[in-house]
This record gives sequence, C-alpha cells and structure tokens, in this order.
Amino acid sequence: MHVKLVRLLSNTLLKCQQGVTCSRLQYWRQYAATGKKPVQRTVMGSWQMHDYGGPEALTFSSTARVPRIHSPNEVLVEIHAASVNPIDVLMTKGYGKDVLNVLRGKASPVSTAAEFPLVFGRDFSGVIAQKGKAVGKYKVGDEVWGTLGGQKQGSHAQYAVAGLNEISKKPPSLSHIDAASIPYVAATTWAALVQVGELTSGNTQGKRILVHGASGGIGTFAIQLLKAWGGHVTAICGTDGLGLVRDLRADVVIDYKTQDPRSELMQMEKFDLIYDTLGKEKTGYSIDYLENWKGGKFVTIASPLLPETDSHGLLPGALKWGADLGLDILKGFREGKNYRVAFFMPNGRALNTIAGMVEEKQIKPVVEKVFSFEEVPAAYEKVGQLHGRGKTVICVKP
Ligand SMILES: NC(=O)c1ccc[n+]([C@@H]2O[C@H](COP(=O)([O-])OP(=O)(O)OC[C@H]3O[C@@H](n4cnc5c(N)ncnc54)[C@H](OP(=O)(O)O)[C@@H]3O)[C@@H](O)[C@H]2O)c1
Repeated sequence: MHVKLVRLLSNTLLKCQQGVTCSRLQYWRQYAATGKKPVQRTVMGSWQMHDYGGPEALTFSSTARVPRIHSPNEVLVEIHAASVNPIDVLMTKGYGKDVLNVLRGKASPVSTAAEFPLVFGRDFSGVIAQKGKAVGKYKVGDEVWGTLGGQKQGSHAQYAVAGLNEISKKPPSLSHIDAASIPYVAATTWAALVQVGELTSGNTQGKRILVHGASGGIGTFAIQLLKAWGGHVTAICGTDGLGLVRDLRADVVIDYKTQDPRSELMQMEKFDLIYDTLGKEKTGYSIDYLENWKGGKFVTIASPLLPETDSHGLLPGALKWGADLGLDILKGFREGKNYRVAFFMPNGRALNTIAGMVEEKQIKPVVEKVFSFEEVPAAYEKVGQLHGRGKTVICVKP
C-alpha cells in the first residue's frame, strides 16, 4: 500500500514538474494531512484580484478552487461572514506587496508562492468544513472565528484555510455577522495594547489611556477592552461619533472637529498609554501628554513600514523606516517615554479571551453596515473612505 502511494506521489510530482497538473498531488497532500479522503467540493465563489488596481479591479469568480489543507494543524472553514478592513482596500492597490511576497514565499513555498490571484479579507466567522488530523480541539461543524495572516489567501470567499493558532470558538451568543466584526480589530488591539503596551486585565485598573480614531473599527473595540479592564479612557473622535463613543463608556470624549485636542489634553492629567491608530501627522502632538519617566507608552499601529518599502524597495525602505523609528525611540528616551510600534498578528488564544468577554457582555460588536457577498466592491469603497463608525461586514452565507 505504502509503496503504491509513494509511486503515485512521485509520478504526480513528476507530472507537476513537467507542468501537467498539481491537483492530484494536492489531493494526496490533503489526504496525508487530514487522514481522510478529501471531500470533492472543488470550486467556490471568491472575490479575486489578478493585478493591482484598486477595489474596482476586484473580480468575482464562481469557479475559484476551494483551498486545501496542507498541514495537519489546519482547518478548512466555510465562511459565513467576514469584515472589510482598511488593509484590504490598501492591498488592492499593492500596499505592502514586497514585504507580503517575502512572507508568502517563506510561509508556504509550495502552495502559495504565486502572487495572483489574490483573495483579501483578514477575518471571518464560519463553520469547520474539514480538519487536519492533528486538530483535536475542534470537530467538523464547529462554529469558529478567526484572523488570517497578511500573507495568506483571505476570507472574502466561500472557504478559507486557517491554522490552529488563528482561530477560536465563536462566541455562541453572536450571529456570524456580529462575530465577524471583531477578530481583526481584536487581534490588532491585543498586539498593540497587550503584547506591546504591556496592559493586562490585572494591571489596567485606573490607568489613563488616550485612544485616537475612537469612532472607527479599532477605536470602538479598544475602548471596550480598556473599560472592561478598568482603564480610564479619553477618546478623540469627530462630532458624529460622539454618541457612539460615549455609549461605549469612554470617560472623556474630545471632538476633534469642534474642539482643539491640544488645549483639551493640556488641562488633563498625563496618560499612561496613548493608542495611535492614525499616524504621526495626526497624533504626534499628543506624545507631549504622556507621562515622563513613569513607563508611559505611545503605541502606534500606523507606522509607515509598508509605505516605505512600497516607495523605496524592500531593503532601502526597511532601512529608512528603521532609522526614522530609531529617532522616535531615542527622542522618547530623552524625555522618559516609550515609543513603540505594533502590527496585527493572528492570535487564536487572545480571541478565546475575547469570546469570554463577549459572553459576559463586556464587549459587544459594533457593526455599522452589512453588505451582501455580491456587493463586496461597494463594501471596499465604503471602508476605503476611512470614516468608519465601527465595522463593515460582508454576509457571505445568508
Ligand atoms: N499596523 C496594523 O497592523 C494595523 C492593523 C489594523 C489597522 N491599522 C490602522 O488603523 C487605522 C484605523 O483602522 P480602523 O479599522 O479603525 O479604520 P476606520 O474604521 O476607518 O476608522 C478610522 C477612524 O478614525 C477617525 N478619524 C480620522 N481622523 C481623525 C482625527 N484626526 N482624530 C480622531 N479621529 C479621527 C475616523 O472618523 P472621521 O469620520 O471623523 O474621519 C474614523 O472613525 C487604519 O488606517 C489602519 O492603517 C493598522
């Protein structure tokens, strides 16, 4: 049996090398990873990009290949809903392609080395359709939510493959639409506030935190996490976001459209942590209101690593970014402040904690608008305006 299998595999590999077909090899790989004969649903609906050109260059394919499990630690998820994030829109224009292509090559040299077609969408809520044989924690039919690494094929499709580190059980009380609004902003904020900012459920009580971009997808999640952990939150947003942000229990809200945030902040006690979602041009002034010499941290998720590598090439861009970051860090040292950068990272364990907080009603989904699967380009247009009031979600399976 084994000799036959090896012979079949090597024949198939030979055919692949000769450019004939890879599908049989993928079939056997999946067989080896799952221990079960792959279910033969081979095509799905998927929004794809064949060349960078903005959201208008997205095309729908009803015959895209269902992705296959290649590792025993992966699951195939039938996507019920997914959110759209600013990164998806930027990626349609080639944002970060040099860095992401390096990651794509490293992450899975066999299956996803080719750049196109690309599928965007970094988070999802759905149901496990198939699982690798090392996946003991979940069974087929389990409802899960998760995020996918930036180098991976995304969730704006009917199926996606996710690793065990990227998923957790979906909070049972949430619909798939509501659940899909949380994972990406939660994983990003966890990276920023917990892994980089060093806040925890045990040490946030009474800490003073300033949140920029408070009415957006990231801001509305961050406020809730911080309030659940006992933080004192000052939030900055525009006039029509005030009601939403107050509703999420921010302690102080500054309207950047009718008030001068600088003079408002000047009258307040200094902050232990500032969460920058918007970038130095809009938020850099606020570092003056961070505690000096008491471990105050300015954590940004809007650092220009990807724009720099896009403009200057991989190595020169990374070097320029590193040099600018070094200067910001040194300037911070001089004044007794920590300048730090965080990036989204998939984090199934964090999602597990968040699921518990959702079930305890400490965190609720903030869904601004739901689009159907047919309306994905319109959803990208909306999110690309960067005026989110919470999250935009796509209903993939009604
Ligand atoms: N590094 C990473 O891994 C990572 C991950 C996720 C997100 N991000 C970054 O985070 C940013 C925010 O993401 P998001 O999903 O929250 O986007 P979003 O939903 O579009 O929210 C942006 C929010 O910022 C508000 N805003 C704009 N200018 C402002 C100002 N001067 N002061 C206060 N609020 C202002 C907008 O409201 P108005 O209508 O008033 O403009 C909007 O509510 C994105 O641009 C993205 O680059 C980075």
